[in-house]
Amino acid sequence: MIKPHGSEELSHCFVSDEKDRDALLKEAETLPSLLLNSAAAANAVMLGGGYFNPLQGFMDLEDALSVAEHMKTRSGLFWPVPIVNLTDEDWIKSGQRIALCDPNIEDNPVLAVMNVADVEEVSLEHHRFMAEKIFGTLDENHPGVATFLGLGRKILSGSLEVLNFSYFEKDFGDTFLTASQIRSEIHRLGWSKVVAFQTRNPMHRAHEELCRMAMQDLEADGVLIHMLLGKLKEGDIPASVRDAAIRKMVEVYFPPRTVMVAGYGFDMLYAGPREAVLHAVFRQNSGCTHLIVGRDHAGVGDFYGGFDAQTIFDNEVPKGALEISIYAADHTAYSKKLDRVVMMKDVPDHSPDDFVLLSGTAVRKMLGDGVAPPPEFSRPEVAKILMDYYSNTD
Ligand code: ADX
Repeated sequence: MIKPHGSEELSHCFVSDEKDRDALLKEAETLPSLLLNSAAAANAVMLGGGYFNPLQGFMDLEDALSVAEHMKTRSGLFWPVPIVNLTDEDWIKSGQRIALCDPNIEDNPVLAVMNVADVEEVSLEHHRFMAEKIFGTLDENHPGVATFLGLGRKILSGSLEVLNFSYFEKDFGDTFLTASQIRSEIHRLGWSKVVAFQTRNPMHRAHEELCRMAMQDLEADGVLIHMLLGKLKEGDIPASVRDAAIRKMVEVYFPPRTVMVAGYGFDMLYAGPREAVLHAVFRQNSGCTHLIVGRDHAGVGDFYGGFDAQTIFDNEVPKGALEISIYAADHTAYSKKLDRVVMMKDVPDHSPDDFVLLSGTAVRKMLGDGVAPPPEFSRPEVAKILMDYYSNTD
């Protein structure tokens, strides 16, 4: 199986032994506690699940700045996005052991215990520098920029002992998997070439066909449909609805044992190219050999060029930094001429009118009005689940 990123074996910060976890939970009752923001909690969950291998905790300021600027830590580890615990709390001291509490569960139970190696002040200039490097903009209309700049100006670095996987285990019992669990499942299925499909949306025909095309072109053994289960911006479709729609699509339209549906507990950054590289890192950690990167991957609004998330792999990721490869997909849509979903680059004779193209806004409006998008765009089974969801929301 493909090696994890930056190490021979996959390691994680989750405390696997139940007795050790119980002992840590008891200890945590005696420790000073910090209520995390959702971004730091999501980082802890990803560290716990081995997705962020070989990292064992939160970065300090120097590493965070180095990662933001050069995509590597000062020890030379290739890494695309700072993994940080930012706060405004001012009572925490270096050398302290603290309990990290979960902001996303009622009564804020303990999520992890942290050994605080350092507490550093982040200047406004450094904070904005990181945001600009991660997101490519400082425009606060960008949801990721607004979130990042609101996280706090003290950076707490140090190792973690993660005690649970927040709400993801309970709310998405069948879908939430750690990177280690995905590796085990790939092993059990006997797959060696595995394509990952990142998604934060319900899957329409273009998404479905991208998975099929990648499988065929790469002669892969299987595809991991790996959905984001964490927080999204207003208006995006909740994970439980996407999960149901994706599972239905897989059940009806893919042969058995060719698709693994799983989810990961992370909040969407909307960081476009940088997030695509992070996606590649943690799919490699999950045992995948390829990641599909299509049009406007992890993008939002008009902040990124349609294929910036592909060109970053050619222009900014050093050769050999990652073992996983990218399956770069062109804009994909249903061709009325050919009666099938195609990549636009493969049909140079087509004009825009030859495709079934619908904007996200148009699709949302149709679903909200109880109108199914055309079957060329959405499978009827998927459309039904989405219409049911919209009919139950205002
Ligand atoms: S994302 O934020 O997770 O990237 P989404 O779930 O919509 O959003 O996309 C999942 C993957 O499919 C991404 O790689 C994206 O680039 C790709 N994709 C989505 N729609 C298309 C399309 N019509 N043509 C090409 N690629 C697409």
